[in-house]
Amino acid sequence: MLDTIRDLEQEALAALDGAADADAVHAVVSGLLGKKGRLQGVLRQIGTLPKDERAEVGRLANVAKRAVEEAARKRLDAFQAAREADLGETEWVDATLPGACRGGGSFHPISQMCREVEDIFLGMGFDLADGPWVEDEWHNFDALNIPADHPARDLQDTFWMEDSNVLRTHTSPVQLRVMKAGRLPIRVVCIGRVFRNEATDATHEHTFHQVEGLLVDREVSVAHMLYVMRSLLQELFGKDIEVRLRPAYFPFVEPGFEMDMRWRGAWLELVGCGLVHPNVLRAGGIEPDVYSGFAFGFGIDRLVMLRYGLDDIRHFMGGDLRFLRQFTRGVEL
Ligand code: PHE
Repeated sequence: MLDTIRDLEQEALAALDGAADADAVHAVVSGLLGKKGRLQGVLRQIGTLPKDERAEVGRLANVAKRAVEEAARKRLDAFQAAREADLGETEWVDATLPGACRGGGSFHPISQMCREVEDIFLGMGFDLADGPWVEDEWHNFDALNIPADHPARDLQDTFWMEDSNVLRTHTSPVQLRVMKAGRLPIRVVCIGRVFRNEATDATHEHTFHQVEGLLVDREVSVAHMLYVMRSLLQELFGKDIEVRLRPAYFPFVEPGFEMDMRWRGAWLELVGCGLVHPNVLRAGGIEPDVYSGFAFGFGIDRLVMLRYGLDDIRHFMGGDLRFLRQFTRGVEL
């Protein structure tokens, strides 16, 4: 039995010498020392030996076990060291190569414009605000001083929900949400989707995008509003852009204006704006004798159409990739 053990040890050591990789090493070790290994097989017969020979067999088995384990560890270390030494060759990566480009992903032109406008306002010290697409009547109409019989509330213009909520028809309800939050002074813009029950055509879409601005502080005047509006348009369209202010009616501002921009020789109506109506301030929990403010709202879609010379607003929600792929300028996804 002592010879058998020595033979097994020699055989295993030779196999380890010839092992090609770590798996082969593990196979040799478990083939000899594992529960069903050959050394175990031999040791199971130890009971058949005379008592005085058993200790010697046990000792030799341990020696063999340790020798094989030690040899296996050395082989594994050698494999590991070889792999690490090779790493520079086998796993070398040129970090300066351009990445694999799957190509084509980009932001929707509307999203690009939203980000641009957002940046301009953040640069002027405005914060971003937001509100729900499904609005209640109070925020969308009542609190904005829009009379109960105002045509804007008609089914033709407004998507009414069964529970008498509406899909917000403009971003102005966000004004109320910000005022109600109770922090003064206010300087926010909200950029988001609005919905109107329109028969769609080249210039009308049921879903479009507005930018709402609201500034409330002490002694805010039309001059402040004019400055902010003009800065916005000049940032977007160039420093020499010409603008004009015309009186206009929106129930939630007084006085109210429409700001036009001179574009290719014609005046383009662009932004609705004005000083926040005292009723609106009051609805928002703000004292109109102490605070005043201006608000403005304009369409993002319109700006994008102007910039790219697009003639049909329906492209934006159409989901046609051939259209969208033309706008890979800007931030890649
Ligand atoms: N909410 C108005 C609209 O949808 C725009 C507007 C906003 C006008 C704020 C004045 C002040 O047309």
